[in-house]
Amino acid sequence: MPDLIVSRMKRELKVLINLYLFFSHWFLKGAEFFLCTFFFALTSIVMDNIIHLHSTKSTNEDAYALAINGAGHGVGVVAEQQSQGRGRLGREWISPPGTGLYCSIIIRPSLSLIDFPRITLTAGLALCSAVESLTSHPFGLKWPNDLYCRGKKCGGILVESSPLYHGKESLFVIVGIGVNVNTPSDLFPASLEGKASSLFMETGVLWDISDLYEKIHDSLLLHIAIHEQQGFAEILKKWRTHDVLYEKEMQWLTREGKVIRGWGMGPDADGKLIARDSKGVLHEILSGDVQLYRKNRA
Ligand code: BTN
Repeated sequence: MPDLIVSRMKRELKVLINLYLFFSHWFLKGAEFFLCTFFFALTSIVMDNIIHLHSTKSTNEDAYALAINGAGHGVGVVAEQQSQGRGRLGREWISPPGTGLYCSIIIRPSLSLIDFPRITLTAGLALCSAVESLTSHPFGLKWPNDLYCRGKKCGGILVESSPLYHGKESLFVIVGIGVNVNTPSDLFPASLEGKASSLFMETGVLWDISDLYEKIHDSLLLHIAIHEQQGFAEILKKWRTHDVLYEKEMQWLTREGKVIRGWGMGPDADGKLIARDSKGVLHEILSGDVQLYRKNRA
């Protein structure tokens, strides 16, 4: 059955469960009431595939521990705040309460190992599509998977994989997503001025963080299914239409610590970023930090 129909059916069943939880005390009494309520609440948690935490160190750590213990495809951990939120390249992801979405979703892909690094771009496209569908505003992607709007970062993704020795069936990836949702400009540290933004700052609207999580969750499962069934080329085609580095002057740091300047040519068929320098030499960028060159920041 297509994933979207299943997820719609689940949502309808959840509405019924909530109705039951609300009205059941009218027609059930005592132990009967408690037993039925316990059963329905449990079903609701299992159906939701979601674990809500008030506070945690890092939802990526929690999701990783759940996945190692067998939690399935699509199970998500959402926290209101994180004390040690992790970003890419060993950076910190500042995660104050009330303004942002901090979540990690377990993915058990039916893909060959060679395709695993490409999931990073698939997840970015899923995030961008979800945010665009919620806000009806255009957003962009900065390779590999930063969510951008008008030259500023509104969200990022940290993808972490299972240890390979666990065997093929138990391979998983954790897609950790952080979005600045309702953050006002004065909550960002001075060092991020002009670099970071939020959905609220870009659209002028305060957004429901749970709605955003649901959209991102459904979009991620849908895009993983597209990747599995139609191939990475299909993902890349759509990804390229959101590429904020395409034909832009940018600079990046090589593994040897050298700063190189060039123009973005978009990701290749494997998801590696290609850039052309002023001598026409093509460079493959595998990972690391890519910055738009100051002059062309819109
Ligand atoms: C980046 O550096 O752009 C990636 C940021 C990813 C942050 C999210 S917040 C939820 C999840 N838990 C973490 O510790 N990190 C990711």
